[in-house]
Amino acid sequence: MAEHLVIAIDGPAASGKSSVAKALAQRLSFLYVNTGSMYRAVTWLAVSRGVPADDAARVLALLDENEVRFGVTDDESSIHLNGVDPSPYLLDERVNANVSTVATIQEVRQRLVALQRAYLEEHDLVMEGRDIGSAVFPGTPYKFYIDASPEVRAMRRQKQGVQDSISARDKQDSGRRASPLIIAEDAHVIDSSHLTIDGVVGEIIGRLKLKGFPFLQNGPVANPQVHRTI
Ligand code: DC
Repeated sequence: MAEHLVIAIDGPAASGKSSVAKALAQRLSFLYVNTGSMYRAVTWLAVSRGVPADDAARVLALLDENEVRFGVTDDESSIHLNGVDPSPYLLDERVNANVSTVATIQEVRQRLVALQRAYLEEHDLVMEGRDIGSAVFPGTPYKFYIDASPEVRAMRRQKQGVQDSISARDKQDSGRRASPLIIAEDAHVIDSSHLTIDGVVGEIIGRLKLKGFPFLQNGPVANPQVHRTI
């Protein structure tokens, strides 16, 4: 079996990590995996069935009783709940309010982490989340932690028109017992507050080159002309 590579991108809510991870995956032709969406899908399942997010036994029962599939569509991870793509609901206010609680359930994490690791069996990955470099793939040499000031992060969410109390979520994500949001010791930290998406991707590519990342030995992968904001 061929060895696949994984680039881990972690960071708090609205740090810009999704836009960056997606753009990086496109540049490298790697599979983009958004693990936050996996926790959100489980949360949507719970809130849409009236199951409290802190009722671990009932949340786990939902996972057993329903068909939850994490696959690949168009170079990205995809999710189907009983055959239906739940994407339109994953940024729902109720999901934002409950996802950090669902993410504290150990067995939910264990199941999702196993599925996240399974992606590496067949793909090179850019995987983003909270614990990718620290817990899901601690052995990867390619780890990045994207941050931004609280003001910039709040403004980004406001611009998206999404109701999301990110400071409460950050507190819960950083304070939980199971795989909290931490900066992995060997992660390269990037403050994206005043950078464009392409600026952050450029910094990551520069760092990957320094580390001898195999696909970047012969110069840059692409030369972006457009500078998109996060
Ligand atoms: O990246 P996001 O904001 O969509 O993530 C939603 C929530 O999911 C986040 O508040 C905590 C949880 N999460 C997690 O615990 N571990 C991950 N690897 C990704 C997300």
